[in-house]
Amino acid sequence: MQQLLVSNSTPLTGSVTISGSKNGTLPLLAAAMLIEGETIIENVPDIHDVDTMLQMLQALGIECIFLQPGVLKIDATDINSCQAPYHLVRQMRGSFYVAGPLLGRLGEAQVPLPGGCVIGSRPVDFHVAGFEALGARVDDTYGIMRAQAPSGLHGNRIYLDPRWRSVGATINVMLAATLAKGTTTIENASCEPEVVACSQFLKQCGAQIEGVGSNILTIRGVEKLEGTRFASIPDRMEAGTFMYATAIAGGDVRLKRVYPDHLVMVIDRLREAGVRVETDGDQLRIIASSDRPRPVDITTAPYPGFPTDLQPAHGVLAARATGTSVLEETIFDARYNYTDELARMGADIRITGQLAIVKGVPQLTGAPVEATDVRAAAALVLAALGAEGQTVIDNAHFLDRGYQNFEAKLHAIGASMVRQDDGNSKELLCLA
Ligand code: UD1
Repeated sequence: MQQLLVSNSTPLTGSVTISGSKNGTLPLLAAAMLIEGETIIENVPDIHDVDTMLQMLQALGIECIFLQPGVLKIDATDINSCQAPYHLVRQMRGSFYVAGPLLGRLGEAQVPLPGGCVIGSRPVDFHVAGFEALGARVDDTYGIMRAQAPSGLHGNRIYLDPRWRSVGATINVMLAATLAKGTTTIENASCEPEVVACSQFLKQCGAQIEGVGSNILTIRGVEKLEGTRFASIPDRMEAGTFMYATAIAGGDVRLKRVYPDHLVMVIDRLREAGVRVETDGDQLRIIASSDRPRPVDITTAPYPGFPTDLQPAHGVLAARATGTSVLEETIFDARYNYTDELARMGADIRITGQLAIVKGVPQLTGAPVEATDVRAAAALVLAALGAEGQTVIDNAHFLDRGYQNFEAKLHAIGASMVRQDDGNSKELLCLA
């Protein structure tokens, strides 16, 4: 098992260049499956989840070659299988994105159900209902979603649950509908930046999509798409993680290649806590306060609300605040796993249903802790950077799923940490 030994590292100073977005790139790789030809995707992050998705595409017969670091050529002229391997789907929920393109392009998709996940139950019923509305016959016995539309998909009106505006279902249904006959409308569609980027990519390839960036997408099916060149957007979760790292450990850090507009809610909450955040084009400067942060409440919500993926980082900041903060998690039912670990570091957190009541304490202290998913792992690193003494974080491999060169980037701004393998193996799956 991989362990990360993190020592108190304050202050952090210097600059960090933000990589391409994990959640933005995965849908682009799936969307490229709709094109009978070559597509070039730039700013592809070098992370484990992208590797898993590329293995998935290759298992379906699609050619994927890096022309240079971060620049990927995908040639989906031939797709020779409609069966997604179970060992890849179980590693990463995002691989379910191949269902929509397989159905749209081949009229058939067999994709194992992703199953449970440590951050909560994560069904795919919205995706399946969308495929059915487009005319597919779906059977999900024996743990595999088998969808068939021998005479093609047909546009329809699809109404997603307004509480969540599911990111995954919006993308999968949009991908399936792009080559369908007729017009599809998706109501309560997600308008997360990653969905917008995927829609823009499809439009650049010839898809007819209206309402991009809103909660109603109208997709007029086209017969085929043409290949294009498109850059993945900067990773707002990585940027947010470094913003919180600076706020928690202290210091003055500049983030390069970010879209500050994608982080408005996070910037507001950090400013409320007393952190100085300056925006300058595609750069952000974070200057931590020398005082403890002020308590700040958050409620996670679909974009443009506060992102659930940064809730754990906010929880760490709140754990050091001068008063009590209330966090409300409305997206994933088990996303407070990290709080038990934070309590081992001295945090005072009580969970009641969707709420976490966080009473700030003056100082956290290093302790042995265990990460349960990619964002929990990052949050524990942030806690450790600002804690007194050394923290040993088990399951550090989770970081590699979503952060390119996380430790190297932190080292470059003054953080002190080392990774080691303790020789024990232990499997813990999180499909985030
Ligand atoms: C994506 C992101 C994840 C982020 C989440 C919310 C990727 C690869 N992952 O996950 O990092 O935290 O959006 O912003 O982009 N739901 C159902 N049935 C469905 C689909 C979803 O009940 O068919 C529920 C989920 O259990 C969850 C909520 O809807 O409670 C939102 O999930 P969704 O937006 O679909 O998240 P993902 O696309 O899985």
